[in-house]
Amino acid sequence: MIRLQNIEKVYRTDTVETLAVNGISLDIAKGEFLSIMGPSGCGKSTLLNIMGLLDEPSKGSIRIAGQDVSSFSDQRLAKFRNEQLGFIFQSYHLINDLQVLDNVELPLLYRSSSA
Ligand SMILES: Nc1ncnc2c1ncn2[C@@H]1O[C@H](COP(=O)(O)OP(=O)(O)O)[C@@H](O)[C@H]1O
Ligand SMILES: [Mg+2]
Repeated sequence: MIRLQNIEKVYRTDTVETLAVNGISLDIAKGEFLSIMGPSGCGKSTLLNIMGLLDEPSKGSIRIAGQDVSSFSDQRLAKFRNEQLGFIFQSYHLINDLQVLDNVELPLLYRSSSA
């Protein structure tokens, strides 16, 4: 269902290079539940962001539902995230001016308009 191969993520600034994920390979089957545990700063969020197609790895490939998403354009990624993935953020990124239901409805509206 989800297959990561040799995923590496390096964050670069002018002065610092941080290796946040160092060569992770992982197969997650349909219906399988998985927890990722580790101390703060070990790369959990980075890995989740990559699996959720919110960030790109520096190296390695990702397949989700049989599709190699590594080569997808931003537009195709957005459609794929909207239709195939659910992601609960650590900070929720809800729109304050909207009611709860409207917050749920908004991505569904985008979904039908992109179909
Ligand atoms: N946007 C970023 N720019 C630079 N370094 C980052 C960024 N995000 C995370 N890091 C660094 O990458 C490492 C892993 O961070 P993170 O994935 O947030 O870990 P966790 O979620 O396990 O606490 C840490 O050293 C962190 O400081
Ligand atoms: Mg985190």
